[in-house]
Amino acid sequence: MTELVQILRDKRDLPDKGLVELLETDNQSLVEELKECARETAIESFGKEVFLRGLIEWSNVCRNDCLYCGIRCSNANIQRYTLTREQILSCCELAYSSGIRTFVLQGGENPSSAQNLVPVVAEIHASWPDSAITLSLGELPFELYEKLRIAGADRYLLRHETANPVHYAMLHPITMGQGTRLKCLYQLRELCYQTGMGMMVGSPFQKTEYLVEDIRLIQMFRPEMIGIGPFIPHKDTKFADFPAGSAELTMRLYSILRLMLPKANIPSTTALSSVLPDGRIKGILAGANVIMPNFTPPQYRDAYSLYEGKSADPLEEVQKELSAEGYFTRPNRGDYNN
Ligand code: 5AD
Repeated sequence: MTELVQILRDKRDLPDKGLVELLETDNQSLVEELKECARETAIESFGKEVFLRGLIEWSNVCRNDCLYCGIRCSNANIQRYTLTREQILSCCELAYSSGIRTFVLQGGENPSSAQNLVPVVAEIHASWPDSAITLSLGELPFELYEKLRIAGADRYLLRHETANPVHYAMLHPITMGQGTRLKCLYQLRELCYQTGMGMMVGSPFQKTEYLVEDIRLIQMFRPEMIGIGPFIPHKDTKFADFPAGSAELTMRLYSILRLMLPKANIPSTTALSSVLPDGRIKGILAGANVIMPNFTPPQYRDAYSLYEGKSADPLEEVQKELSAEGYFTRPNRGDYNN
């Protein structure tokens, strides 16, 4: 085995120079070794099980204006929607009957409607007590994070988007500061949420050294979940003409982070399968261990357009691909387990 991969596996760490080399190398056999080693590490942690999460995109109303995102508040070309309590519960029911034991409620950042989710979370928790609830609702006041946690939410995804503060400022309006994002992540941790962070790969102005900073931030925070996908341009944003991020680089990051944090829950993301037809399974083979099939009512899916050409990761297709490679799923919350 190449020394670089071996050190990364044995020490769970690598100097910056080695990380840059793994991210930038053209040496295909080195990349294959990296992926294989990460795949074996994932199998040591999880066997050949892949955890499923049922994604429910509950609202595309957002107060933020992130320069890359299709549901930014200044985009007047999309129909805004928020699912009702009844709609959310029927999504959970469908997901549950398909064997899903984690519901992910994701939406734009909107503290006043997020407040309305508190009783809904409590109801989901009471109706399906053997299931986990993950939230992904952006930056909210501590008190609201706390109420949602007490109502029964177990996990929270809040991508840091980029660890580099100057880069963060290039991707977000002046009203959004990186400090707030990081403060929220620490608050979530304080509330004992299983916490997820992550970034886009190939976002405008990104450099390899920023990805190394991302890796270092993740290594320091040690999140229970790591969400990483390629940037995909959306026509109604400032970044419409920027190229999409690389699927290959995204998978190398899954592999590197798997070797650094063997037990982390790392999804093979929808964004990856949107840029690469067999991206879902390739992400798993590169060390990811989670897939998030979409359970949003079909009539709202187009309106939840973070980026264009978004895949739905239909459950049956997912299961077929996985079993062809010897992987399996089962009704399982798939909690972080150190
Ligand atoms: N391409 C890829 N990912 C995107 N996201 C938002 N817009 C895009 C885009 N254009 C991601 C962000 C956000 C998550 C919900 O979706 O990383 O945290």
